[in-house]
Amino acid sequence: MGFPFISNDLGIDLGTANTLVYVKSRGLLIDEPSVVAVDKNTKKVVAIGLEAKRMLGRTPGEIEAIRPMKDGVIADFDLVEQMLKYFIRKVQKYRFYFRPRAVIGVPSGITEVEKRAVVDSAESAGVREVHLVSEPMASAIGMGIPVNEPSGNMVIDIGGGTAEIAVLALNGMVCDMSVRIGGDEMDESIVSYLKKTYNLLVGESTAEQIKIQIGSAFPLEDELEMEVKGRDLVAGIPKTLRITSTEIRDALNEPISTIIEAIKQALEQTPPELSADILDKGIIMTGGSSLLRGLDERLRQETNLPVNVIDDPLTCVARGSLKIIEELDKFYPVLMTTSRKMR
Ligand SMILES: Nc1ncnc2c1ncn2[C@@H]1O[C@H](COP(=O)(O)OP(=O)(O)OP(=O)(O)O)[C@@H](O)[C@H]1O
Ligand SMILES: [Mg+2]
Repeated sequence: MGFPFISNDLGIDLGTANTLVYVKSRGLLIDEPSVVAVDKNTKKVVAIGLEAKRMLGRTPGEIEAIRPMKDGVIADFDLVEQMLKYFIRKVQKYRFYFRPRAVIGVPSGITEVEKRAVVDSAESAGVREVHLVSEPMASAIGMGIPVNEPSGNMVIDIGGGTAEIAVLALNGMVCDMSVRIGGDEMDESIVSYLKKTYNLLVGESTAEQIKIQIGSAFPLEDELEMEVKGRDLVAGIPKTLRITSTEIRDALNEPISTIIEAIKQALEQTPPELSADILDKGIIMTGGSSLLRGLDERLRQETNLPVNVIDDPLTCVARGSLKIIEELDKFYPVLMTTSRKMR
């Protein structure tokens, strides 16, 4: 009888905010927050992913919801390993017959030690062959940009923990800048703004909701407002406030300006031939935070370059990673080197 030959190679985006797993011929099977809930007393993991995120900021005393990948780096090796294992196992029906290969998209600023941790975790989760690729490169491939050509493309991936700015040409990153500022920082700015201005304490999840609902980086045609619930720091009791998109834009200005400064610096460091390409083709923006209202317009205004946000910025790295594993021979040159890369 035999088993049907099903190749279950994986394209994985190990993001600070979200982890995605694409499986060849089966599609996007995992799209969950990179969150792990841990029992403080026993140190045991009690939930991972969506279930754990629901616990963030509202866990009972003994349970702590942790994001093991803070600021684009691995903050807790052990938990990242357990999380990655959990997601990989979840998609692996045929693991005893065909151990999959995987390409994993990671921040470009990742250290050797962090690379090892990612590779080891995937291997111990049953992956037979692990390759790493930088997030901007994976996004570009996910978008179908011909990265092997000499012509340059600027890709900016603004995620939860990092903003990565890369100029790609001839299968490599000609210019590569990574700042550890992304959507998380924006959320934190909202938390501290509400605290400073209204003595109102809100959690990270509420701040993220505010950002998505009314946040912006450029004046809106119709400014928005919303009701926010939190705890009054003085009276110590719950309080409701109405806040406007204008004030949230002010609150977001610092992290956004920092990202834009980094983009300008990257443009300055780009070799002139490639600058000419970017002038023609513009900047391509991806990552969840590129969905912030008016960020494209703000960038357009500050750089005088065309700016395009891609259609599906949240899944691009995972799609690109899968494409790479499907055509490994073609894409081999774009992979990151790891101390043990053999072939
Ligand atoms: N509509 C939106 N407006 C603004 N921000 C958004 C929107 N949708 C998602 N985000 C933000 O996008 C971020 C997540 O993006 P993404 O999944 O690309 O990050 P990641 O890949 O996990 O992180 P990183 O690439 O930094 O490791 C979160 O901070 C989230 O709040
Ligand atoms: Mg990302």
